[in-house]
Amino acid sequence: MKELETTIKNLKLKSPLMTASGTSGHGGEEIDRLQVNRKMKASLGAFVTKGITIEPREGNPEVRIVETRTGLLNSIGLQNQGVEFFVQNELPGLLNFELPIIVNISGSTAEEYARVASYLSENDTCEIISGIEINVSCPNIEKGGVAFGADPREVRRIVTSVRRNTDPRILIITKLTPNVTDITLPARAAIEAGTDALSMINTVRGMAIDVDTCRPLLGNKTGGLSGPAIKPVGVLMVYECFRNIPECYNRDIPIIGIGGVSNWRDALEYIMAGATAVGVGTAWFVNPHIFTDIRSGMRAYVKKRGVRISELIGKAHEAEGDSVNC
Ligand SMILES: Cc1cc2nc3c(=O)[nH]c(=O)nc-3n(C[C@H](O)[C@H](O)[C@H](O)COP(=O)(O)O)c2cc1C
Repeated sequence: MKELETTIKNLKLKSPLMTASGTSGHGGEEIDRLQVNRKMKASLGAFVTKGITIEPREGNPEVRIVETRTGLLNSIGLQNQGVEFFVQNELPGLLNFELPIIVNISGSTAEEYARVASYLSENDTCEIISGIEINVSCPNIEKGGVAFGADPREVRRIVTSVRRNTDPRILIITKLTPNVTDITLPARAAIEAGTDALSMINTVRGMAIDVDTCRPLLGNKTGGLSGPAIKPVGVLMVYECFRNIPECYNRDIPIIGIGGVSNWRDALEYIMAGATAVGVGTAWFVNPHIFTDIRSGMRAYVKKRGVRISELIGKAHEAEGDSVNC
């Protein structure tokens, strides 16, 4: 099915669809449980893992997930067993997936990010993984807990140190936070520091209060909003980067669009805004067949129009003034 093929730099994907980090664990277990392994594998272009840190992390106090009318609030707090455990116990299971593996990495200091990247670049591991996705939405412990991604200088510092410590065969993707005024500033900083691609968006900061107890519902009080409510924010941010950053417009720096994708139309919106691939997270909790459904819908759309998905990237930018016949 060549019409759905796409590429992130030199990484060929048979489908533009990816899991969004943190929503399908570190691999096999959730997918096997839902018994959608085979079909899901056929619909995905790549598997993105949940965030990994250098040391194990217990995560935030419960409650960690709250459902809202238009999406999900979460404050998981990057619970994971550390990079060593991941490489030894979880990564081998992911190989059964026979998909490119992108490992999402997090840290509390720039040095921690670099150490995870360095560990993943060792010996056999760098042959197995295709990419590292840097989650810059983590709190910067050295700077009082403000997210790294809110400050372009910090984004530059992290991406530079990850780049220095990553095997050149591994693709570096920087995942941006929407909790900024101008997304193009951290995007440019990441590009100047040597990222190969960008992904956007992570969750939008939010909170919910129980009016019966007068207390915040999340154990951590605040969290990140995902799901349908944030899709217009994500589409806008992809659009702005594609439009204003020449490296994105020229496709030298591909964008992975993420946020609120719940059906094939949503996925196409991201592609027309300028995304080369699309990540799906929260919708998978609702519909275990989401990837198959989106792939079928996109396939029918491109077949009907006799185009390849890659020809639709950034299509909305041609529509200045008039609607175009696509
Ligand atoms: C439960 C949960 C855990 C997440 N964990 C991570 C993570 O570890 N690293 C990361 O970069 N993003 C993480 N995210 C953000 C998602 O990858 C994605 O950017 C966001 O949820 C928006 O996409 P969606 O609306 O399709 O879920 C998490 C999201 C959720 C809902």
